[in-house]
Amino acid sequence: MVGHAFILAILLCLTTLASAEQVVRGQQAAEIRYTVTGFCQNSLRVQISTNNIKPGSNITLNHPGALLVTNNVLCPAQEAVTLTSRKNVHTHDNLRVELTDDQALKFWNVKTSGLLFQIDPVSFKPSAAIPGLVATSISTKHPAGDTRVYGLGQGGWTASDGSGCAGGNGTEHIVPLLRNGQSVNLLQRKFHISIPFVYSTDGEGSQYGLLYNHGGYGDVAVDEQGGQVWSQQAALNVDLWVTTTKARSEGHRDIYEHYADATGHSPSMREDAMSFWQSRNRYKSSDIVESLATRYAGLDVRVGVVVVDFKNMNFDGDFQPGQACYPDLSALVSNVRSSINATTMFSFWPEVLPQSAEYQTLAERGCLINIDLQGLAFDATQTACRDYAWNKLIKPRYFDHGVNSFWLDETDGEGTGTPQPNGKDGNGQHGYDTSYGPAAFASNYWVNDWISMFSSTVQDQGMLPLVLTRGVWAGGQRLGAILWSADIESTFEELTAQVNLGVHSGLAGIPWWTSDVGGYGCGDNSKGKSLEYVQELMIRWYQFGCFSPIFRTHGCRPTADPDPDTDTCSPPQPSCGANEIWTWGDETQAVLSKYVVLREKLKPYIAEINTHVQAKGSPVVRALWWEFPTDAACLDVDDQFMLGSALLVAPVTRQGVTSRSVYFPKGANWVNIFDGTVVAGGSTKTVDAPLEIIPVYKREGHSLTLLP
Ligand SMILES: *[C@@H]1O[C@H](CO)[C@@H](O)[C@H](O)[C@H]1NC(C)=O
Ligand SMILES: *[C@@H]1O[C@H](CO)[C@@H](O)[C@H](O)[C@H]1NC(C)=O
Ligand SMILES: *[C@@H]1O[C@H](CO)[C@@H](O)[C@H](O)[C@H]1NC(C)=O
Repeated sequence: MVGHAFILAILLCLTTLASAEQVVRGQQAAEIRYTVTGFCQNSLRVQISTNNIKPGSNITLNHPGALLVTNNVLCPAQEAVTLTSRKNVHTHDNLRVELTDDQALKFWNVKTSGLLFQIDPVSFKPSAAIPGLVATSISTKHPAGDTRVYGLGQGGWTASDGSGCAGGNGTEHIVPLLRNGQSVNLLQRKFHISIPFVYSTDGEGSQYGLLYNHGGYGDVAVDEQGGQVWSQQAALNVDLWVTTTKARSEGHRDIYEHYADATGHSPSMREDAMSFWQSRNRYKSSDIVESLATRYAGLDVRVGVVVVDFKNMNFDGDFQPGQACYPDLSALVSNVRSSINATTMFSFWPEVLPQSAEYQTLAERGCLINIDLQGLAFDATQTACRDYAWNKLIKPRYFDHGVNSFWLDETDGEGTGTPQPNGKDGNGQHGYDTSYGPAAFASNYWVNDWISMFSSTVQDQGMLPLVLTRGVWAGGQRLGAILWSADIESTFEELTAQVNLGVHSGLAGIPWWTSDVGGYGCGDNSKGKSLEYVQELMIRWYQFGCFSPIFRTHGCRPTADPDPDTDTCSPPQPSCGANEIWTWGDETQAVLSKYVVLREKLKPYIAEINTHVQAKGSPVVRALWWEFPTDAACLDVDDQFMLGSALLVAPVTRQGVTSRSVYFPKGANWVNIFDGTVVAGGSTKTVDAPLEIIPVYKREGHSLTLLP
């Protein structure tokens, strides 16, 4: 018998190429297998798996996650290699991975810097969340000294309660750009758009990007030195994608370019979207939208997009705006186009309510999920469901009538939440159980499939997509997604917290971002605020919005509905107060108009940035260090940013403030865009910022002309 076992062991060794063995105490011996595949320039996909899993039939095997696995012309398929003690090294361009004798994985940049980081031996435990799968945890360490870690999504630092106006105590935190010392819950929830991608740098030659290619429940803790512990509750394996630099200098640009190659480049942003967007909660009929357009037509400002907010359907799941309020979409779209040349965008929620027109059909087709909860959601992960909804519902009822841009609300899982005793919705803590598997395994994959139903479809019709979304996951940039920071409050504190969010988003690979200019408001939290407070807040927020990737006002102002119900339609929900540039009086309107006009002048520059975003995966708004990587003083700046490579933006976000300190990066001279004065780089100065002025400086020598 001993002999048989011995021969069997040898056979196993030979057939599996002797992958390393590890004994999990109290269980059968688990074999750990290390599979590495060259995946785009200077990049490797690393899959670490154990034979000790028994996935149920509702688990999709080999889910690609964020990576473009098939038909990726930028990254021709490479042969997968199994690392063993005998063949323990694999190199693809500059990136080398080595399996050490004690089961650590070391990653090297063979050209520039030597050892980048290592992953300690991986632990696999039985998953408590989904029997048959594994709970895993990996720890990364850097060879010496500190590294700085960026990325991980729009914000979502779990040290804050973060629930904002949707149920928390209203406190929002500024999330520092540097992620060292932060922990991030990887489950997407309202206000927590986490994306499992980091860029890490030691400030010299040692730089890498790491995608943790899993969409299930988990978290990552980044220690003060930049080491990371990535954990997940229910998985098939550990699936990582690692990239390093082509060259030593400006290596961060290589990392983001490789990341876009592997997960998809952004399509071009549409020109209409580069102009100012007008929105409010809410334009509750076609008539109201058309009179809004007529009033804008009499002004000297350009509106690129007009948004029809939620509750435009009688019930979510109708897949059609209420006929009484929006009787003729083609007429609406063409009237808005002919009066102000703006695009009309419609909002969608992913819920399909039992009272809705398409509930029965979609339920019979097996396209509804989370049935046990109040929020029934559309299962966008099934190709057949997406095809049906687009071809039979959205295309004939919207697209064919000229609606080809979509606001995808609640895509952060809010609708999946168990209602709380206070009537709030719980912010989507439940997640999505989809065709890929239960939420603990697959929740985050849902969102990009939902976006795709409104984006890839439009691209298939030969148009650029235009999709605004409250949630997006790694890779969503390839769908042209514009992320916005959800239902934030109408306060200066909240405006201050916004400044980093757009930069965070870009550093997590999602370049197009916007906030509700003016703050969403949450219905009533501006109560007790004076008109002067709101006027000042609007002006400061328009200034910030003008230099954001997308400039879009929206909100629920706590004032009376400006369009009391008429008998032409009876909408399911009334509107909050007015939110147009004329809403706060002539003096305020004059300043707001000035920034809408300025945005129009910025468009050629935004278009120039757009080409870099598309080609190189660059962010639209950037940390100062992105443009000035050798100026150490840029590292600590968390309240200024670069719009593209040439504009230094230092927004005023505090009430009553009319001057502020600005750091001018070394290596350029800086021209004030309003008065033409020049400041030498490498200095910190207190500059004037009276209410009409946001301090913005152009890198001297750039061709952009903005001076009045
Ligand atoms: C998935 O399958 C497991 C058993 O394999 C079952 O316990 C679980 O309820 C299923 N989950 C869903 C969401 O269908
Ligand atoms: C409210 O916010 C503060 C400040 O972040 C926090 O310390 C506190 O725990 C929060 N309270 C609740 C009840 O969430
Ligand atoms: C209408 O707007 C589009 C951009 O969305 C622009 O390309 C076009 O030239 C505009 N048309 C007119 C007549 O101004």
